[in-house]
Amino acid sequence: MFDAIAPRYELVNRLMTFGLDARWRRRAVRDLRLARASVVLDVAAGTGDFTRELARQGQRAVATDLSYNMLREGHGVLVRVQADALHLPFRHASFDGITCGYALRNFTDLEATLAEMARVVRPGGRLSLLEVAEPRAGLWRAGFRLWFRRVVPFIGSLLSDRDAYHYLPASTAYLPSATEISAMLNRCGFSSVNHRRVMGGLSQQFLATRTS
Ligand SMILES: C[S@@+](CC[C@H](N)C(=O)[O-])C[C@H]1O[C@@H](n2cnc3c(N)ncnc32)[C@H](O)[C@@H]1O
Repeated sequence: MFDAIAPRYELVNRLMTFGLDARWRRRAVRDLRLARASVVLDVAAGTGDFTRELARQGQRAVATDLSYNMLREGHGVLVRVQADALHLPFRHASFDGITCGYALRNFTDLEATLAEMARVVRPGGRLSLLEVAEPRAGLWRAGFRLWFRRVVPFIGSLLSDRDAYHYLPASTAYLPSATEISAMLNRCGFSSVNHRRVMGGLSQQFLATRTS
């Protein structure tokens, strides 16, 4: 599916979020609080939005994704590795940090994937994850639902692949709660897990440190 939507993925993303995702990624990278020139793996990097932000903030970034076409669209991304996030082709403790944007709900075994991230990041290394969320109540929630469940599939059908942009909003159903994801991170070897709702719950961010 991601191979099919790769050419227009970034365009639809910008329209879907009114470009706000760029701001959320900037903050998510800053929150890693790593020294400059740290080596950071961007898991399920897609076309490299997060990877480029890492580079802009002075980190040495490596992009990895299962989809060849998504990686191929990653203009300006220097190092790209096609791999399944469940079986990352890197040695233990190879990275100072990990980022992963809007991909958690696509992993067939989320906990095993988080354990694989824990394997490749060094003790004391940092993790920053972004994922879609939903505002809790009121007009904000109603507006979000209308946008995400009706307008996004419509824009996606016009500009890209109809089925994919019906699947993407629906796939939030596969996402465990923030409490469950935090517990998974703890079980996988991360500590100081912090969950933050972004912009009233339009998005959410998890931060954690690899236990020494
Ligand atoms: C919604 S896109 C997010 C892309 C990018 N991280 C971003 O923030 O725009 C989800 C990505 O997860 C990738 N993906 C899905 N399952 C994967 C897996 N098992 N291993 C690696 N990448 C995977 C897809 O190929 C796709 O590029």
